[in-house]
Amino acid sequence: MQCDVLTLFPDSIQSVTSQSIVKRAQEKGLLHLAIHNIRDYADAPHYNADDTPYGGGEGMVMKAEPIFRAIDHIREQSDNLRIILPSPQGIPFSHQQAEALSCESRRVIFICGHYEGIDERVRTQLLAEELSIGDYVLTGGELPAMVMIDAAVRLIPGVLGDPLSAQHDSFAGSLLDYPHYTRPSEIRGAAIPQVLASGNHEAIRRWRRKESLRSTLLKRPDLLSHQTLSHEDQTFLNEILEEQPSEVCCSQRQEGAER
Ligand code: ADE
Repeated sequence: MQCDVLTLFPDSIQSVTSQSIVKRAQEKGLLHLAIHNIRDYADAPHYNADDTPYGGGEGMVMKAEPIFRAIDHIREQSDNLRIILPSPQGIPFSHQQAEALSCESRRVIFICGHYEGIDERVRTQLLAEELSIGDYVLTGGELPAMVMIDAAVRLIPGVLGDPLSAQHDSFAGSLLDYPHYTRPSEIRGAAIPQVLASGNHEAIRRWRRKESLRSTLLKRPDLLSHQTLSHEDQTFLNEILEEQPSEVCCSQRQEGAER
């Protein structure tokens, strides 16, 4: 994955992408990430990247020209670009979007807005796609860009140590993840489910599947309505409904219906 981030705050991107799995993805050559300071493309002597809005009003608007120049610079290396504008007005970013991004053959450019927004001509002239990470407004596009990059990078084959772990993720199969435990087997009176120490792989698979279903039923019952469930899943769900206190399942189901 080849990715460029255009930002007024390069250090904030650097602080996240120079750590952990995203860092290792770069070291392995699976992610090529370039961070561009938009101010470097603004005019001397002040290098202003923002200006007051036409029509008046609060705040500052990011200027189009420095962003156009940064894109022109990237186009000198490749003309096959996918340009993304993180924005609360965008279409919702989802697991499916992350998968598509992880195998994107085009160079992916994130343009991070700040202040009151970016001159609209950036979106229209560059045919930029707006993507939102949720129905709330952040102070800038840096965190959303990093969220999207992180979600995509971990799906690139070879990035995670265990290739199966991304397959077991919440949302990969539209069920939430099962609970995880590590040593010690007992801590402050709380023991791990004994089946996990049994060495019986089939019993462990069944336990994990059932706990994924339990978690989904209790926390995100709306996801279950989009699923085709196997006979085994149906049996597990019936068992869960008998095991759970009835008021928990009822209230969770009602909340799910209201979502
Ligand atoms: N910029 C500000 N808020 C945002 C959001 N919710 N999603 C994407 N970009 C944003």
